[in-house]
Amino acid sequence: MSKSTGSLLLLNGPNLNLLGTREPGVYGTVTLAEIEDSVRALVHTLSAETKVLAFQSNHEGELVDLIQQHGPTARGMIINPGALTHYSIALRDAISSVGVTTVEVHLSNIHAREEFRHHSVVAPVAIGQIAGFGPDGYLLAVRYLFGASS
Ligand code: DQA
Repeated sequence: MSKSTGSLLLLNGPNLNLLGTREPGVYGTVTLAEIEDSVRALVHTLSAETKVLAFQSNHEGELVDLIQQHGPTARGMIINPGALTHYSIALRDAISSVGVTTVEVHLSNIHAREEFRHHSVVAPVAIGQIAGFGPDGYLLAVRYLFGASS
């Protein structure tokens, strides 16, 4: 259940620190810092008092720690788990353990790519998945979370 107060947790997984230069034909040229800034700016216009806690990690366990630490008090979470999407039961269990309202975001349309990207182990514990809209996906997730929980 979403809380109407609390921070917004924004998590990005492995290799998303390389956005801007990483396979620009697939992921575009916008950097992760720019995405985080645009999320902060939109959150500010929707709810000036809400803090955005933004983290990126290449390490599964660190992402689990962050979800355990911040998930219980967060108003919601936007996560792009990167490749962990497709196999990390630990990440999925962390989300379901803390019960944070979660929107899964992917820059690319994972369903139109290689077969191994079609399956998400996170999707069943997320309220929904946004894929294929590039950086706008994060902003769509913000709009959903604030419309749904405020
Ligand atoms: C991604 C899609 C994943 O399959 C891939 O491993 C990523 C990025 C995306 O945002 O499109 O690292 O999550």
